[in-house]
Amino acid sequence: VSATESHWQGVYATRRADEVSWHQPAPTISLELIARYAPPQASVIDVGAGASTLADGLLAAGHADLTLLDVSENALAAGKARLAAHAGIIWLVQDITAFKPARAWDVWHDRAVFHFLTSFDDQSRYIAALTVATHPGSVAIIATFAPDGPEKCSGLPVQRYDAQSLAARIGAPFCLIDQRREDHITPAGSVQKFSYAVLKRT
Ligand SMILES: C[S@@+](CC[C@H](N)C(=O)[O-])C[C@H]1O[C@@H](n2cnc3c(N)ncnc32)[C@H](O)[C@@H]1O
Repeated sequence: VSATESHWQGVYATRRADEVSWHQPAPTISLELIARYAPPQASVIDVGAGASTLADGLLAAGHADLTLLDVSENALAAGKARLAAHAGIIWLVQDITAFKPARAWDVWHDRAVFHFLTSFDDQSRYIAALTVATHPGSVAIIATFAPDGPEKCSGLPVQRYDAQSLAARIGAPFCLIDQRREDHITPAGSVQKFSYAVLKRT
């Protein structure tokens, strides 16, 4: 078991899904951006899905081909229980830096996973997986802590980005087409500055 897996397995074994700092009542910006840049038929992979309700919102919007990936099996357990009725959802317990995708998706969504990759090599492995997992025309929506956001999350150091620096690190053939900033209010009541980049693969 890797350090990454044991860290996140521990987090989700000891914390309620609605008390972790990244919990949001609804993933409003993610749903808005996916609706704006992809049709309801689009297939979506949520990387580091955790216990997010993004999949619930996407099902409600008509998306049927959904894949939820997380390094922690515990992280996916709540969603699995909630969405058990939806046979179409694919669950992958997988470290994104070792992911060898066997298919491509129309939308790649990541909120607060890439920013944990502080080594250049891990970032490159993520970008390699992203590239195999998408096709020309696919959209990648990647949310990270912003330059004025926290330096750590869940006790781990993070690399902070604005949309431009994120797009520069991901690189061609992904082009920045839109961006958002978010003041995320944690369950404890503090503000975390997030940056969302919408990248289109040419
Ligand atoms: C800060 S949480 C965000 C969860 C979810 N995206 C959300 O917005 O609520 C980060 C998630 O990424 C997962 N994760 C962390 N490192 C990962 C990696 N290398 N590969 C896959 N998942 C990872 C964690 O288990 C956790 O569920």
